Amino acid sequence: MKPLLQINEVTHTFHDGDFELTVLNKLSLQVNVGELVAVMGPSGSGKSTFLSIAGALLTPTGGEVTIAGVSLSGMKAQMLAELRLKRIGFIFQSANLVPYLKVKEQLLLVAKLAGMDAATAAKRAAELLERMGLTHRQQYYPDKLSGGEKQRVAIARAWMNSPSVLFADEPTASLDAMRGQDVVRMIAEEVKAEGKAAVMVTHDERVLPLCDRVMHLKDGALIEDR
Ligand SMILES: Nc1ncnc2c1ncn2[C@@H]1O[C@H](COP(=O)(O)OP(=O)(O)OP(=O)(O)O)[C@@H](O)[C@H]1O
Ligand SMILES: [Mg+2]
Repeated sequence: MKPLLQINEVTHTFHDGDFELTVLNKLSLQVNVGELVAVMGPSGSGKSTFLSIAGALLTPTGGEVTIAGVSLSGMKAQMLAELRLKRIGFIFQSANLVPYLKVKEQLLLVAKLAGMDAATAAKRAAELLERMGLTHRQQYYPDKLSGGEKQRVAIARAWMNSPSVLFADEPTASLDAMRGQDVVRMIAEEVKAEGKAAVMVTHDERVLPLCDRVMHLKDGALIEDR
């Protein structure tokens, strides 16, 4: 199997004056094509730190992250930004939609930033909106959408540039059980349909059956649930 995400002995220590906190300690993880992996762990265990490092938003103090065969070690800021735009999708706990853009425009904007031509972008946006059940909402502004709809727009936007790996930090936190399962099912289906991979931080036990693997962050490393 081909790994889309490879994390090798990543360590992260926050320094704050004299104060030091090692949050991740030789954490390793490999995620293959078609896999949706859940990461659980108590508050403060380092889940968001881990996700930020895996998603190239934060550089670890030690170890190596490789995405779709490309190592992030020593990469310059501009290349990292390009990689984030084209290879990585990120869904935050709150959907983080742009308030003054309509649903369809949210998707077209990231495509434009990545240099996709307008016709290809329009076709891809239409397909994704259809798959997420949002076609009838494409001309809505975010403040007119329900919580579940907003999260689905965030997923569609994260998929727009066909990233190799999608990272989601508690994407169901603000949703009820049914909407939460819908959202995770959408992510699982996209991962399988497009041959991508996803890592999702979650506290929500009800979505675990939809994941291929469940990992627990403990003492700075990931342990698999079997
Ligand atoms: N920028 C930072 N500087 C210093 N310490 C930090 C920083 N970011 C996070 N921490 C600390 O690192 C630890 C892990 O934080 P993190 O946000 O990764 O936890 P988490 O598992 O995502 O928690 P939650 O479930 O509450 O979201 C916490 O003790 C936090 O205070
Ligand atoms: Mg967190």
